[in-house]
Amino acid sequence: MDLGLRNRVAVVTASSRGLGRAVAEALAAEGARLALCSRDADAIRKTAEIIGDNYGVDVFAAPCDVTDPSAVEAFAGEALRRLGEVHILFANAGGPPPGIVQDFAPEDFRKALELNLLSTIGLVHAFMPAMKRLGWGRIIASTSITVKQPAPNLALSNVSRVGVVAYMKTLAGELASHNITCNTVAPGYILTDRVEGLIAGMMEKSKMAYEEARRSITAGIPAGRIGSPEEFGSLVAFLASERAAYITGETILIDGGAYRGLM
Ligand SMILES: NC(=O)c1ccc[n+]([C@@H]2O[C@H](COP(=O)([O-])OP(=O)(O)OC[C@H]3O[C@@H](n4cnc5c(N)ncnc54)[C@H](OP(=O)(O)O)[C@@H]3O)[C@@H](O)[C@H]2O)c1
Repeated sequence: MDLGLRNRVAVVTASSRGLGRAVAEALAAEGARLALCSRDADAIRKTAEIIGDNYGVDVFAAPCDVTDPSAVEAFAGEALRRLGEVHILFANAGGPPPGIVQDFAPEDFRKALELNLLSTIGLVHAFMPAMKRLGWGRIIASTSITVKQPAPNLALSNVSRVGVVAYMKTLAGELASHNITCNTVAPGYILTDRVEGLIAGMMEKSKMAYEEARRSITAGIPAGRIGSPEEFGSLVAFLASERAAYITGETILIDGGAYRGLM
């Protein structure tokens, strides 16, 4: 299937590693040109260099903390100057720390909302005008299975991400007539540094060996395994493609069947 992504321009944030990087690679493999950012300038430049070399596409990279509105504005301005247009936005950020509600102060919830909800809103507002001018766009927000099913030790994630679903659903209705789709992806466990960190935390807290900690995660996943970043990248590349033009306002799980609800 030709995804029709050749020479499309895609902005992928929080992409020096993990899910963002996997999305950048999946889009580059389809011939998309990229604008990438993360906070660490060296890490994002190195990732951009590797992707540019491996896939032969233009990659613009700059440091940007997506929780900082002025940094987002500067990144968007520079990305548009360098690449001329923007067709696709994958709005992604880091995850808040694990823990239960009682571990956190109200200030921690405010920070989590800045990281996961307000960063998405800021990124959309920075790039949406360019898509409206083109009359074509794909906005994909990164959240988590926690928007469907709260996780016991991820209180900040449970609370800070659901607003993204409401925001994207609302936006989808407003932008459909501009030929811009707005969807949300909700991963379960995908093997990135963040999940390796969660496994390390379990090993320390419960005095488990690595394989035992991993098994305690996969026990809750009908597919019997943790997902790969490449599988996640493929889902986002499809949603970003010409082929997904009639899918909008959706929240799509990628979790090996871990979510137990009906809808
Ligand atoms: N992996 C999973 O199974 C899974 C499941 C559900 C939800 N999620 C969520 O999906 C998102 C990505 O997860 P991941 O597994 O890819 O995490 P990861 O492996 O820890 O990678 C995080 C990436 O985000 C960048 N980043 C972090 N904070 C940022 C900020 N404020 N501004 C810009 N870039 C930032 C990091 O680079 P710098 O350090 O250079 O900024 C890095 O490139 C997180 O919100 C995570 O909670 C992941």
